[in-house]
Amino acid sequence: MSALAGMTALVTGGASGIGLEIATLFASEGAKVGVIDMAPCADFPAVQADVTDPGAVTAAVAKLAGLTGPATILVNAAGIDVIAPLEEVDLALWNRMLAVHLTGTFLVTQAVLPAMRAAGSGRIINLSSQLGHRGAAGMVPYCTAKAGILGFTKSLAREVAEDGITVNCLAPGPIDTPLVASLPAEVVGAIVEELPMKRLGTVAEVAHAALLLARAEGGFFTGTSLNMNGGHVMM
Ligand SMILES: NC(=O)c1ccc[n+]([C@@H]2O[C@H](COP(=O)([O-])OP(=O)(O)OC[C@H]3O[C@@H](n4cnc5c(N)ncnc54)[C@H](O)[C@@H]3O)[C@@H](O)[C@H]2O)c1
Repeated sequence: MSALAGMTALVTGGASGIGLEIATLFASEGAKVGVIDMAPCADFPAVQADVTDPGAVTAAVAKLAGLTGPATILVNAAGIDVIAPLEEVDLALWNRMLAVHLTGTFLVTQAVLPAMRAAGSGRIINLSSQLGHRGAAGMVPYCTAKAGILGFTKSLAREVAEDGITVNCLAPGPIDTPLVASLPAEVVGAIVEELPMKRLGTVAEVAHAALLLARAEGGFFTGTSLNMNGGHVMM
């Protein structure tokens, strides 16, 4: 039997990269899938919306619930990345980085929680990063946001555990996606050189970790961070 039969997954950032691969794998495992992304997504029922916009998030979650049923799995994968020394980070960039990763995760999670609580079950999977644990020079806003996701995850996991809802993070190392491809080649090359495995990870490797957290057999994971990072950070 398919691992996610009867479940409904809402994936933010599901138009590209890690989110798209998770959406595709979850659908192949029997889940109904809906996507919220600023970019268009032709693969699944989708709403084009900015996860930092409270009204747009409320409307998108309601619309997708009508199309696919209320989410029993939420994957918060929408994200952006910028490399700049701290002195060159203006307030708008700082605010945008925290808004996309933290406010977006907060708003979408808050919008799906009532239905999960009412159902007495749910799975929430947030995209942190190995850089949320480790930090990285030139990436203070991104690493701050990703460290915040770890705190959000651990706190909410405690808050909803008795309602049958698990909340976990994925903390990937560098994964071969459009986001990483947008970085300067020398930056990506230097990152790969630091990795014991000397290669980028694949979206499939991340998606299968997400599947472990989403499926029934992953029910005893909560408040944790699965770190698939080629050995870059060992915890
Ligand atoms: N690729 C990596 O190496 C890596 C490593 C660790 C963590 N992550 C995290 O994984 C997640 C996915 O990254 P990816 O590499 O697949 O990136 P990606 O650029 O391929 O996909 C990100 C998606 O998020 C969407 N998005 C961005 N801002 C949004 C907003 N405000 N509202 C709605 N949608 C928005 C984009 O349109 C895009 O479709 C991100 O949170 C990223 O920080 C990526």
